[in-house]
Amino acid sequence: MINKVSTNNYKPGLDIEYVKKKYKLSKVIKLASNENPVGPSKSALSILEKSQKNINRYPDGKCDALKKEVAMFISKSFVSPKNIVIGNGSSEILELVAKAFLTKQSEALFSKHSFIVYKLVSNFMNARIRESKLITKNGANYMSSDLDDMKNSITSKTKVIFIPNPANPTGAIITHKKIDNFISSVSKKIIIVIDEAYIEYACMRGHKSCVDLLRKYNNIIITRSFSKIYALAGVRVGYGLASEKLILALNNKRQPFNVNQIAQLMAIRSLKDKKFLTNSLKDYEICREYLTKELDNLNLKYIDSYANFITINFGKATQSIFNRLLKSGIILRPLDNYKLPNYLRLTIGTLGECKFFISKLKHILVKK
Ligand SMILES: Cc1ncc(COP(=O)(O)O)c(C=O)c1O
Repeated sequence: MINKVSTNNYKPGLDIEYVKKKYKLSKVIKLASNENPVGPSKSALSILEKSQKNINRYPDGKCDALKKEVAMFISKSFVSPKNIVIGNGSSEILELVAKAFLTKQSEALFSKHSFIVYKLVSNFMNARIRESKLITKNGANYMSSDLDDMKNSITSKTKVIFIPNPANPTGAIITHKKIDNFISSVSKKIIIVIDEAYIEYACMRGHKSCVDLLRKYNNIIITRSFSKIYALAGVRVGYGLASEKLILALNNKRQPFNVNQIAQLMAIRSLKDKKFLTNSLKDYEICREYLTKELDNLNLKYIDSYANFITINFGKATQSIFNRLLKSGIILRPLDNYKLPNYLRLTIGTLGECKFFISKLKHILVKK
């Protein structure tokens, strides 16, 4: 299947102030953009004031200190700063991949209902897009990528394959073993991007990152984000891990000062703050368990999510329920532009936000 989208197809979550004004509400919570609800690490935040006096200076264009910190954080002999590229969000790394490896004559391959930026960056290069199926049979793999179909969708023109793990907007994962088998069966000329923007949440539930596959394969790129668990979405920073040769190819396509200095410093502090990570994951797990239990009680179907959101299947078009939640002061994410009109994506907020959501949802469902 081949199709086109433009940046206009990217629909961000609604703005809190806009919703407050429109519906004359004093309390509005946003559970729409998969951000960490508690905000960044205090240590990272303390950078803001300190770095003010250097704001007239250009940042380190090579992001040396951050690369060193990432290498230490990954803590694998086969990942040194030479295997790292830093981006203005991991979205920029996805764009660099497209710039480096896609052309009008080539094809990008990913599953249906995948994160829309894969389409956008492929479109930037006028590459053709091929979408493979998801597993739609009920069970543990429900809505995860069908790697057999993905393999069958590869053509002589396939240059880049994007595999999100966990995926957005489904939250589904593919096991490490399945990804390893898939990569080993694919031509080494194809670049395979494993997008691990939500990996910390998945690891919390026992999933294994694909970082160790970097030792085995030279044609893979792993992308990670500081926008999710580290709560730095607003300053834009992410990274990519790959062989030296691929990192060089990506660096050749980026602007010299692509990552601002505040983002670099905040990212370094965030990686150092292990307690922040542990506490955020603890809070997340409490809220995820609370929400899944309540959704089960309400007999609502949802995809088993390994990310910081839950995608709920209401079994019918969700526009009315989305609007009613909005009028109650809750912003969720409709998934019509992902061709999932019966689903709403709920970001896991603080426990207070989750309780507020459940109380309003119960009220709406009773009144229907
Ligand atoms: C699957 C996935 N990958 C990558 C990103 C990009 O994150 P960022 O550019 O903020 O690092 C997102 C953001 O929502 C995402 O859901």
